[in-house]
Amino acid sequence: MIDPTLETKFNQHINKEIYSSYLYLSMAAWADHTGLRGFSHWMRTQAMEELTHVSRFFDFLTDRDGRARLAAIAEPPQDWSDATALMRDTLNHELEVSRGINELVSLCREHNDHAAGAFLDWFVKEQVEEEAVVKDILDRLNIVKGEGQGLLMIDQELATRALPTYDPTLGWLGNTR
Ligand SMILES: [Fe+2]
Ligand SMILES: [Fe+2]
Repeated sequence: MIDPTLETKFNQHINKEIYSSYLYLSMAAWADHTGLRGFSHWMRTQAMEELTHVSRFFDFLTDRDGRARLAAIAEPPQDWSDATALMRDTLNHELEVSRGINELVSLCREHNDHAAGAFLDWFVKEQVEEEAVVKDILDRLNIVKGEGQGLLMIDQELATRALPTYDPTLGWLGNTR
């Protein structure tokens, strides 16, 4: 059974993951409106992937005889000056989520909850990848100064990102980037 303090913190983190999904969907809407269809597809996929993270926390709380409790989702920003600003906000948001995961890991250690620690290991690794992928897109945007043909090339590449898939036995599968 999960400690009630941890349960509350895990639920607060569920809200962060749902907000991530909401933020990326808002970014997708901006990208659609701007004509950056690849960025929009990448953001929609990212939004779906964030919901798979919610699902993992949900299941973990249930398995530990806890309960997922959903709170209000904050309104995300709706406008960005350009694709570079969009990806900079994405990186900052992922850094914030990484901090949240790290705090949860520390808290689980304080409570001697090794099962929760093992569960969070997946997220620690996932955040390394999230940060690296976004940083890579941002670096390439900087190379092409975020505009012109270079921007369109990056947009085309982002259009190829695969959607997350769910296997009833194995759960969420694959690297979807
Ligand atoms: Fe996430
Ligand atoms: Fe994320």
